[in-house]
Amino acid sequence: MAKSSTAAQHQSDVYQPDKSIVENAHVKDYDTLYKRSVADREGFWADEASNLEWYKKWDRVLDDDNKPFYKWFTGGKINIIHNAIDRHLQTQRRNKLALIWEGEPGDVRTFSYHALNREVSKFANVLKSMGVRKGEIVTIYMPQIPELAIAMLACAKIGAAHSVVYGGFSVEALAERIQDAQSRVLVTADGGWRRGKITDLKGIANEAMGRSATIEVCITVQRTGQEVYMENDRDFWYHDLMGLPIASAKCTTEEMDAEDMLFILYTSGTTGRPKGVLHTHGGYSVYTSTTHKYVFDIKDEDRWWCAADPGWITGHSYIVYGPLINGATIMMYEGAPNHPYPNRWWQMIEKYGITILYTSPTAIRGLMRFGDQWPKRHDLSTLRLLGSVGEPINPEAWRWYHEVIGEGRCPIMDTWWQTETGGFMITPLPITPLKPGSATKPFFGNEVAVVDDDGKEVAAGEEGKLVLKAPWPGMARTIFGDSDRYVEVYWKDYEKQGWYKAGDSARIDEDGYVWIIGRIDDVIKVSGYRLGTAEVESALVSHPDVSEAATIALPHEVKGNAIYAYVILRAGVSGSPDLEETLRKHVGHEIGPIARPESVTFVETLPKTRSGKIMRRVLKARAQGVDEGDLSTLEE
Ligand code: PRX
Repeated sequence: MAKSSTAAQHQSDVYQPDKSIVENAHVKDYDTLYKRSVADREGFWADEASNLEWYKKWDRVLDDDNKPFYKWFTGGKINIIHNAIDRHLQTQRRNKLALIWEGEPGDVRTFSYHALNREVSKFANVLKSMGVRKGEIVTIYMPQIPELAIAMLACAKIGAAHSVVYGGFSVEALAERIQDAQSRVLVTADGGWRRGKITDLKGIANEAMGRSATIEVCITVQRTGQEVYMENDRDFWYHDLMGLPIASAKCTTEEMDAEDMLFILYTSGTTGRPKGVLHTHGGYSVYTSTTHKYVFDIKDEDRWWCAADPGWITGHSYIVYGPLINGATIMMYEGAPNHPYPNRWWQMIEKYGITILYTSPTAIRGLMRFGDQWPKRHDLSTLRLLGSVGEPINPEAWRWYHEVIGEGRCPIMDTWWQTETGGFMITPLPITPLKPGSATKPFFGNEVAVVDDDGKEVAAGEEGKLVLKAPWPGMARTIFGDSDRYVEVYWKDYEKQGWYKAGDSARIDEDGYVWIIGRIDDVIKVSGYRLGTAEVESALVSHPDVSEAATIALPHEVKGNAIYAYVILRAGVSGSPDLEETLRKHVGHEIGPIARPESVTFVETLPKTRSGKIMRRVLKARAQGVDEGDLSTLEE
């Protein structure tokens, strides 16, 4: 890409796309298509939906009779699996690679669309034999192995919904998600590989099943071969079941209503209880495939690598569903980016001829630390596009990614979106002139604004709250089992205007480019992972020595943010470095290693309002040694 320097500030460095990129792009003129997409939103989405196969066409594109519970493509009959797998089997894609998977120890497995269909159909029949029915929620707790995607796809095929719990989560996080979803069936693995070590997924699953009594059937994939406890009548090995005659490769894909539930995915909010964000077959199929096609300009010959974990929305939308609907070849890798050496990713890009890499700023910063010599040893010439997601990317990491990994050639798609949005909302296209650190402009059909508390747009360059002004097909339909909370969290603040509050602060510059600043609620992004301060606090308080706890996020060079905890101990208990370590480990055991605080500070009191709310803002200011601001509501 050619860089054209404009104004003095580095924020206004603009990278123009190369001619060859523009010539080959699906979309060559953003402005015209954007204008059309918002002037005739339903027409735009109807056209995109027509690229998919429907068992029955929809009656209405957008049903907004019961705002904010929008519905899309009502009356339509579809199954995401028909579009992600079945229809490719009728074309030359049948024998194309759908999935290339590499395990951390170096084992490789590949699946053509034909082979993927076979595995998915077999497992769908296994689930059916376990009594899994349409509408039921199956919990999946797995490492990054092909069976994770196979299990998700098998659920969708028979009309069951999945709830994938990230394999890095631990006992309490898993138990409460199983409980909330009332899952009867759990699919897990004996473990996975991470940094040369084996994770104890089955041990954690066993403990979680002990805490939530809903699971009747647990199916375990043998990945590591380590010894695990299996309970009679409840536990089954995946490979045993897949070897039974019941696991036939013939399975009909269930016809679903467009608005039927495809999955729930738990994400953190401001209270301790995670929210089960619900997505549906119709709108989500249209949204993930359209965004993936236009933003990453996907072509049949591409090898697409989204280096996220399928346990998060990025993996759902852009490892599994969007790319498979587009008939892409997907790369999936089990382990750590720097194992056994910091060139692991670059080695795989070279080995498999990856053309598009989509990852997070944390991963980029982490790999950048090891120096240029690691990527420079490898032939990265197959790459043509790069992507970033999960948190704001700092210009220094952007430039390294662009220059060293993309060899100055590959534009970076900095995509802003959320679990709740289902897919990209603010993002460049390959043809967009880029400014490092800006997610640039809204995707087609979307209208975004940065406003104050009254909903008034702030001036260009000023910080405010990010809102989405119009519905889109990939939007969450509700929070599972708690539609009041759905309204309260996202729609209440701008009820009059009918806008969705994203929970982020942002700025829009004079050129209409959006700059995301960060969360404005009690959600913390640690290494791009989303956690709630309240979740970490309740894990701390669940320890018998702890009476009260408060957590805050402070900037961290690699992780973006890190968690710091302040704890009041129970009477008679005194703080010590050992207890600090015990509490950090306790949080790791309850929620997962990503939630472990950087440090735990023992205090006598916590700053609170007179109504008893912890003033995290004051703790944060104190920790950073800056002005504590307005303290008039602080309790004496
Ligand atoms: O704060 C924003 C940040 O991630 C939040 C959503 O987190 P989650 O639901 O886990 O989804 C992450 C993957 C889509 C947002 O509210 N975020 C996401 N992408 C970006 C971002 N912040 C800045 N730039 C981005 N590109």
